[in-house]
Amino acid sequence: MDAVSLARHLRPRFQLDWKGIHGASHWARVRAIGLHMARTTGADPLVVELFAWLHDTQRHNDGRDPLHGDRSARYAHSLQGELFDLTSRQLELLQEACRHHSDGFTDGDITVCTCWDADRLDLGRVGITPDPERLCTPFAQTEATRSLAHGRAVRWAGTRWH
Ligand SMILES: [Fe+2]
Repeated sequence: MDAVSLARHLRPRFQLDWKGIHGASHWARVRAIGLHMARTTGADPLVVELFAWLHDTQRHNDGRDPLHGDRSARYAHSLQGELFDLTSRQLELLQEACRHHSDGFTDGDITVCTCWDADRLDLGRVGITPDPERLCTPFAQTEATRSLAHGRAVRWAGTRWH
């Protein structure tokens, strides 16, 4: 998987603000903290990376859009063989992570849980401090991981509005 080809594919198709709260900088932060977490949690880094890039691409708005996770799971399936070649298990995990990422679950496969935590750890961009009880993995719940991700999210929000 080549991140440049993926970005070239996604950008013209993304319906929302590329620089917005669900756009590329959010995806990049989810990727960074997700890959950082994967080294400790044992999550599959390729699945985490693809989750980061894809999970919000199918949003129709920046507010309530309860079916965007399901759409992103189907979208991920459509890109298999075109932009990446996952094993059937990796594709299954990617689709599971995408489909349910905004449903509030805290339990599941470690790769899926790492994806969900990476996304939730970036809530500081919209003024929300992630609640450790709503995170899935002990590593995400640590003060060190939360403050690393939250600092990045809050700094982005600060540069955006001022
Ligand atoms: Fe997200």
